[in-house]
Amino acid sequence: MNPTRQHWNDVWSKKAHAEVSWYQADPRSSLSSIDRFGMTDADDVIDVGCGASHLADRLVERGVRRLHLLDVSSVALDAVRSRLVAIKSATVVEYLVTDVLDLAPAPSVSLWHDRAVLHFIRDSDARSRYAAIATAAVRPGGHLVIGGFAPDGPLRCSDLDVERADEADLSRLFEGSFDLESSRRESHETPWGAAQSFQWCVFKRCGLDS
Ligand SMILES: C[S@@+](CC[C@H](N)C(=O)[O-])C[C@H]1O[C@@H](n2cnc3c(N)ncnc32)[C@H](O)[C@@H]1O
Repeated sequence: MNPTRQHWNDVWSKKAHAEVSWYQADPRSSLSSIDRFGMTDADDVIDVGCGASHLADRLVERGVRRLHLLDVSSVALDAVRSRLVAIKSATVVEYLVTDVLDLAPAPSVSLWHDRAVLHFIRDSDARSRYAAIATAAVRPGGHLVIGGFAPDGPLRCSDLDVERADEADLSRLFEGSFDLESSRRESHETPWGAAQSFQWCVFKRCGLDS
């Protein structure tokens, strides 16, 4: 099995959702970034490395047209699926059990969301590949919302080294395809009360009709 998949299936099998450092009962950081540009029921969204996040529940409640939930761990996706079946909504939900770096063809979306996933991709070629996949997925005028550890954030997450990044690092990675619209720092509080510094950036896909 792909070591990334093995690692994350182990994490999601051994820990309850509320015990992981990135747990948020209310996905307010993601929603406040999304609400900066607004969202309608015509939106097609992909949540990359969604884990068991409650963002999926909130997007389905808002009735986005289509929601692609992608995670390398089937255990995480099963946890979300078991919650979403109870929500009445017109949203079409697609579950993608894959490494984001293997996502081909990428679905066409108006919003790509990633909270605490890109920071695990440390190799520069792999980060460029991630940017190319996001570029292929997001339609001109669409948005990319990325939240990950800032330069003063932790060095590791879930026993893995991470690549910390600020607004300039992320802008460089997506340069030529996305323009930075807004950015902010956030202190995330883990379930055991530790503070983790996150960098959030909202980008807009460049293109003819943007
Ligand atoms: C730190 S958790 C964040 C989960 C969720 N985004 C949240 O904010 O609650 C990272 C998630 O990304 C998934 N993941 C890690 N590397 C991945 C990759 N290369 N491709 C797809 N999913 C990945 C893990 O299985 C895990 O669910």
